[in-house]
Amino acid sequence: MQAFTYRNQTLHVEDVSVADLAETHGTPLYVYSRNYFLRQLTELRQAFAAVDPLICYSVKANSNLSVIKTFAGAGAGVDIVSGGELFRARRAGVDASKIVFAGVGKTHSEIEAALREDIRFFTVESEGEVERISECAVRLGTVGRIAFRVNPDVDPQTHRYISTGKQENKFGMDPARVRQAFKRAAELPGVEPVGLHLHIGSQILNADPFVEAIHKVTPLCHELREQYDTFKTLDIGGGIGIVYEPGDQQLKPATLAERLLPLLQELDLQIVMEPGRYLAGEGGILVTRVQYVKDSYRKKFFVVDAAMNDLLRPSFYQAYHPIVAVRETGETVMGDVVGPICESGDFLAQDRTLPDVPADALLAVHCAGAYGFTMASNYNSRPRPAEILVDGNNARVIRERENLDDLIRGEKMED
Ligand SMILES: Cc1ncc(COP(=O)(O)O)c(C=O)c1O
Repeated sequence: MQAFTYRNQTLHVEDVSVADLAETHGTPLYVYSRNYFLRQLTELRQAFAAVDPLICYSVKANSNLSVIKTFAGAGAGVDIVSGGELFRARRAGVDASKIVFAGVGKTHSEIEAALREDIRFFTVESEGEVERISECAVRLGTVGRIAFRVNPDVDPQTHRYISTGKQENKFGMDPARVRQAFKRAAELPGVEPVGLHLHIGSQILNADPFVEAIHKVTPLCHELREQYDTFKTLDIGGGIGIVYEPGDQQLKPATLAERLLPLLQELDLQIVMEPGRYLAGEGGILVTRVQYVKDSYRKKFFVVDAAMNDLLRPSFYQAYHPIVAVRETGETVMGDVVGPICESGDFLAQDRTLPDVPADALLAVHCAGAYGFTMASNYNSRPRPAEILVDGNNARVIRERENLDDLIRGEKMED
């Protein structure tokens, strides 16, 4: 399914004109394709059908209630990393038995909230966390299920900020420690150790690191399975990448499954997956209007009304996002797309061949469905954009544009 196509030289999301959406709702504007999201979920589910995985959509990728509900409505669970994401997931109607809770720094109150909801399991990253969950559970008269996050020391071949499974990363525990911690957990009154968890990084376009990571935990899985009746689950995390740049090759779920299924089937465990970017990334765009076109030395600057506060990835990770004109134009030029924020790092594209559009034209920044709005801020006191979810020819506002009062909500002025 193509989420974004040109009809009469105008970009459409499903059956809705992006130009019309910008006219009605203003810019900058996030626009998502509901059917694209669902298509991605189906593709992944079908590829891994042989192990019937529980697919837990990683809420951090795009945490809008309607987006969570879209995936949950299609049978997915969710992967959360905070009390806030737990709140969102429950509000969106996600069944608590399909919620898994990751993260290195869970607080008492976050743990207690998740215990009260009786979530599927916590993925735990340290001995201290296990003790804390047990204490909280005993206090509440319950038991928390836990899966140990293993740091397999595998290079996921991605940006260093989104690599999470190497020795130097803060995530997970080395296998020897997990073995010890599992033993201790089995003795504690407030936790039940039910499995292992892996998440080696994000935006991974090669099956090899996934294979290597699973190979590394396989002996531990066999060992724990023999020793503990409670050990039933392997959560293989998220991390499947998408095509941002020319030259990127999609790691197709079928290709990944071909490599992983023989390893997973042999384990005979309940498999959980936590994809975020793969499900949501390519199903979203950020629409922005050119304010000024400025010639400088050797290139053009397209100054637009979206900025690093709206889409942080280019500034933060030097990430490439394809940028196209909403109304097709044949002309191209070398230049930068920059926002109005007072930082030279405020760009959406740098030194690129871009559509040569005039001031007032609309541009669409692709691959903005994941880690787009969720990483947006109010930097420079800029209200955050609205979000629209398109389903066929129906477009719904799923988040209002922030207004100036939103910017100062909760602030107090000194006398
Ligand atoms: C524990 C965990 N699971 C899943 C994900 C989702 O990763 P991705 O969006 O690359 O699939 C992340 C992302 O950082 C994560 O930390």
